[in-house]
Amino acid sequence: MRTQVCIIGGGPAGLLLSQLLHLDGIDSVILERRSRDYVLGRIRAGVLEWGSVEMLRKAQVGARMEREGLPHEGTYLSAQNRGFRIDFQDLVGKKVMVYGQTEVTHDLYDARDKLGGVVIDEAEGVRPHDLDTEAPYVTYTKDGTEHRIDCDFVAGCDGYHGVSRQSIPDSVLQTFERVYPFGWLGVLSQTPPVSEELIYANHERGFALCSMRNPKLSRYYVQVPLDDKVEQWSDDAFWDELRRRIPADAAERLVTGPSIEKSIAPLRSFVAEPMKWGRLFLVGDAAHIVPPTGAKGLNLAVSDVHYLHEGLRAHYNDGEPEGVERYSERALARVWQSERFSWQMTSLLHRFPDQGGFGQRMQESELAYLEMSRSARTTMAENYVGLPF
Ligand code: APR
Ligand code: PHB
Repeated sequence: MRTQVCIIGGGPAGLLLSQLLHLDGIDSVILERRSRDYVLGRIRAGVLEWGSVEMLRKAQVGARMEREGLPHEGTYLSAQNRGFRIDFQDLVGKKVMVYGQTEVTHDLYDARDKLGGVVIDEAEGVRPHDLDTEAPYVTYTKDGTEHRIDCDFVAGCDGYHGVSRQSIPDSVLQTFERVYPFGWLGVLSQTPPVSEELIYANHERGFALCSMRNPKLSRYYVQVPLDDKVEQWSDDAFWDELRRRIPADAAERLVTGPSIEKSIAPLRSFVAEPMKWGRLFLVGDAAHIVPPTGAKGLNLAVSDVHYLHEGLRAHYNDGEPEGVERYSERALARVWQSERFSWQMTSLLHRFPDQGGFGQRMQESELAYLEMSRSARTTMAENYVGLPF
């Protein structure tokens, strides 16, 4: 088989890239290791920057998001059980869209199917070859048969644990990492959200977050020690801890119910440079990870796709090589801005084992400064809604 762009990974990055390339007449094939059901069963965060909303519209996959998504014009932060609002619309004239990543992935798969996109799932042993030549190819096994796809470019959209990043020589690849000394215990419950907007809570017992998927489906998180096991946490213990950490008025309103999903996720900041080597591009989680505090994971994958799609379109349709050649430089500039903001939000809102009383007071005074200073809230708002592509 031959295609112009071979995409490894059928998550949001791979699917969105394939859809945008198709709309510009550029041929691609997606190789996905898992089954479609497995991919669509992943529970993931759901705050879309407005730039991501516009990208999904451009990819002709925004219809259900427009109908079912929840536009949010602000968010709440709290310290010492008292909250205040960051008004995105007033401060920077933008908003975000609450719409689950699972739904985005569903919509992307439906769009690829509708346009006859080639997504080969349960592809095993995917391996890119000759990436440092002008004739790369990718091999894989499906139902016991070995296959080869010849292509012009390979897009590594295969996430943090994928094969693409490992294909860049150690002598070329540089990685940067910060692993946080805590995790997030998350609960999904079929209960009405405690607030119409998200609440990010700093508390001396640890961070908490109140979010949602829709008006009848809530998503909550509490910071827990890294060695906690989800089995240690009964639903009642979770709800009690959440109440202790969020603003008092929200704690009184909280509607609890049985968890329909409960899991603990670790937090890390990670970046691999460069995001291009030969004819291989790294896209999304394959190149970078952010702690979920700033809700940047999916949005960074979208901005990587924006830069790569623009570069490939210029290469194929205008004979312009610059976009492809400068992909890594352009994508990384925005990646590091989102890494910085996600690290900053995580440092501000979580209880670190070694921070002591002084560290807690520093966090509380920074939150008090955010509450009193419009310019501080404007800075927070412009980063949260997403810096320009
Ligand atoms: N061969 C083929 N497919 C692979 C391989 C491989 N060797 N390794 C991983 N994959 C697939 C995974 O099964 C997954 O479906 O690549 C896909 C990568 O998707 P994601 O991990 O969702 O990464 P990405 O598309 O970059 O989306 C980033 O997902 O993890 C969240 O927080 C993250 O919201 C962000 C978004
Ligand atoms: C979520 O709804 O899962 C969510 C929202 C915002 C975040 C992280 C997670 O910052």
